Amino acid sequence: MIILEQKHENFRFKSMDQLKQKIDDLNLDLHLIPNVDSLKQPLKIRNLSISNRLCIHPMEGCDATADGSPTILTKRRYHRFGSSGVGIIWYESTAINPQGRSNPFQLMLNEENKNAFQDIIKEAEKAEDQLNKDNGIFTKSIKILQLNHSGRYSRPGKKFPQRMYSYEPLDKVYHQTLSDGKILTDSDLEEIETFFRESTKLAKEIGFDGVDIKICHRYLLNESLSAFTRGDSKYGGDLYSTRTRWLKSIIKDMVSQFSSNNFLICSRMNIYDGIPYPYGWGVESQISDIYPPVPNLTEPIQLIKDLHDIGVDLFNLTIGNPYFDSSISRPFDQPVQGAKLPNEHPLQGVFRFINLTRKIKSSIPSDVKIIGTGYSWLREYSPYIAAYEVSQGNVDIVGFGRMAFANPEFGQQIILNNRLDPKKCCITCSKCTELMRKGTVTGCVIRDSHIYQPYFKGKQRENN
Ligand SMILES: Cc1cc2nc3c(=O)[nH]c(=O)nc-3n(C[C@H](O)[C@H](O)[C@H](O)COP(=O)(O)O)c2cc1C
Ligand code: SF4
Repeated sequence: MIILEQKHENFRFKSMDQLKQKIDDLNLDLHLIPNVDSLKQPLKIRNLSISNRLCIHPMEGCDATADGSPTILTKRRYHRFGSSGVGIIWYESTAINPQGRSNPFQLMLNEENKNAFQDIIKEAEKAEDQLNKDNGIFTKSIKILQLNHSGRYSRPGKKFPQRMYSYEPLDKVYHQTLSDGKILTDSDLEEIETFFRESTKLAKEIGFDGVDIKICHRYLLNESLSAFTRGDSKYGGDLYSTRTRWLKSIIKDMVSQFSSNNFLICSRMNIYDGIPYPYGWGVESQISDIYPPVPNLTEPIQLIKDLHDIGVDLFNLTIGNPYFDSSISRPFDQPVQGAKLPNEHPLQGVFRFINLTRKIKSSIPSDVKIIGTGYSWLREYSPYIAAYEVSQGNVDIVGFGRMAFANPEFGQQIILNNRLDPKKCCITCSKCTELMRKGTVTGCVIRDSHIYQPYFKGKQRENN
């Protein structure tokens, strides 16, 4: 396999000029503007008013109870997110059923726990009310719940992979083998559809403004899009139409039953997963030794157009498979313990996100709204690159993941002060990912250390 040779470096910019110089040295089409007003503009999707162009991405805390209900730590996270002042809070990955849980501590919404689950909406609202009282310029965020079946990465207790097709390298990096779990049959898939329906019904009932039918990071629905090698199935093969049939059937069902001007069916979608053909989505369809594989957005663009025709108006775009190569899905300074540094500068990873998002945005109808990803590595300079992208119409809203763990008030800092406090920013050390991989609760070990450092230390000791 040929690896593109580039040098990884850590973030070390003492000024905007130093960052600009590095961008020039790497010959990247990235731009910073000091005026962040574009991020403060409101936006309307149907009847839903989004007060600014900032979003908190879904960030799983792995801290639910055995039945999937939120705990004190979950409520605390959403209280902190509510204090941000962002226009959209995209709630973390929530399992649609016990078999599809990514870990035994993942949130899961059901009839029995729906009232307890509602607390995480109320917590964010409480913090938002306070913010409005204190500053008077924020309104309530819109709140989207991410619904997921973890597919190959299901770990309801011990690992039980449920795959669309077999592809050993993916199992190998996750330390599971082909004899673990199963390949789902077409009728298994059709049954899973009913769980999406039940979860969406409950999410609407308890007050979310929409649900995300999750199609990213190589969980089950995302894997279905690359099911080129799935034989003897209505839902796989060479044709785009068969590989997207199952997903479209779910989305059509959700839209027809639940979508309204006040409740969105939307999706966090991978537009490129960085896995070589014939196992990758959004990649060139030829066998090649180039890694990461060359993107080809033809099918992702077609899919966004098709889903828009069905009734999806909002997409949160992302890339990569964090289990296979987390440098693609979250550019970092430090990888998780034991993982390799990528052969590229993290700025090239940031550029990959931004550039692919621009290409999508310029190829779809303007009434489809797009949220971008990949900004946290830029720390205190992220608002200036984000503001440029929004001001140019390259993206409608910018989302932050790890930044929200580290510095949940980033939204109010941008809106009120036009800047982020460098001492509060995420330093992309991957310790939150490490906590998750070790099977404990997760959050920011660095900036929220009084809560998460003990878990990190405890687990470190266990491993020693
Ligand atoms: C600890 C952790 C938990 C995450 N949980 C989710 C999740 O529940 N759903 C999801 O789509 N992405 C999840 N992500 C990915 C982030 O939403 C985001 O795409 C990624 O961190 C890159 O954005 P950033 O550079 O702003 O952090 C998670 C990432 C981390 C580090
Ligand atoms: S532990 Fe904190 S600083 Fe480190 S990557 Fe996670 S959010 Fe960022």
